[in-house]
Amino acid sequence: MSKIKKIAVFTSGGDSPGMNAAIRAVVRTARYHKLEVTGIRRAYEGMIDGDFVAMQARSVSNIIQRGGTILKSGRSKRFLEKKWRDIAAINLKREKIDGVVAIGGDGTFKGALVFTKEHDIPFIGIPGTIDNDLYGTDFTVGYDTAINTAVEAIDKIRDTADSHDRCFFVEVMGRDAGFIALRSGIASGAEAILIPEQKTNLNEVIDLLGKGKARGKTSNIVVVAEGDDAGHAFDIAKKVKKRLKDFDIRVVVLGHLQRGGSPTCMDRILASRLGVAAVEAFIAGRKSVMVGLNHRDIVHVPFEKATKHHHTVDPYLVKIAKSLSHPPS
Ligand code: F6P
Repeated sequence: MSKIKKIAVFTSGGDSPGMNAAIRAVVRTARYHKLEVTGIRRAYEGMIDGDFVAMQARSVSNIIQRGGTILKSGRSKRFLEKKWRDIAAINLKREKIDGVVAIGGDGTFKGALVFTKEHDIPFIGIPGTIDNDLYGTDFTVGYDTAINTAVEAIDKIRDTADSHDRCFFVEVMGRDAGFIALRSGIASGAEAILIPEQKTNLNEVIDLLGKGKARGKTSNIVVVAEGDDAGHAFDIAKKVKKRLKDFDIRVVVLGHLQRGGSPTCMDRILASRLGVAAVEAFIAGRKSVMVGLNHRDIVHVPFEKATKHHHTVDPYLVKIAKSLSHPPS
């Protein structure tokens, strides 16, 4: 058991719905254990600039339902340089901070790993990203909301696609991962789902769309993860149009709307559980680990592992995505 008295919390990287619920859980759990809490605004940038704010239980009232992050977020170029990390450490020490809770994704934990090797200030991570691409946890905070947002949008696109007999290429987020594309694609009945984890064969996609048309299919949805190896949705649509000249094709890029909105119940509960677990991890003397969810259990994943390994998409979902959208007859 460690004798920590004061912790800090910040949110970093792309924001995700449920980050506020995680901040709330961290602050309330810390106060429950009589620890002082400091909020760091604007992620690593705020750590360098000493942009700190004292937080009480009341500071996090009425935020569990709000998207975005009250502490603001960002990606810091300065933190990549040692001289700025040293300044950040001086600021944390001046504030007498015994440990830091970092809520973010892969880049956030890579930064935390480097920093904790240089300075004796422990960090605990909470996975917060819509991409769900962190190794060691089944789900990240924000993913469930993002896929529900994507499904709602694709359902609407389906209405107009059907009315006009069109083929839509819908690009969803996921720079390096197809988690959002895979689940939102299956849930919206997409005809094809293109993800970076699977080599995309455009001939196959063209063949599939052509055969569908021959069977009497009049509209299609193809969900494309932004990081797909065949390119962005606009590039793919152009290539397909060249070969399927009689197809009426449109492209929709869902973009940052997937990052906003009120978190789902799933995300609020996940964020609450992980926020509690992060503070309890400090109290138990842990450091340099990400708290995550493995089935129903809380797990502690070393930053080294969480940042080095890849969270792989469920091969079973990949398989059923195909069999559900184009069965033999
Ligand atoms: O990391 C989450 C993510 O949403 C990625 O899927 C996407 O590529 C990226 O953020 C976009 O980041 P930015 O807000 O910097 O444009």
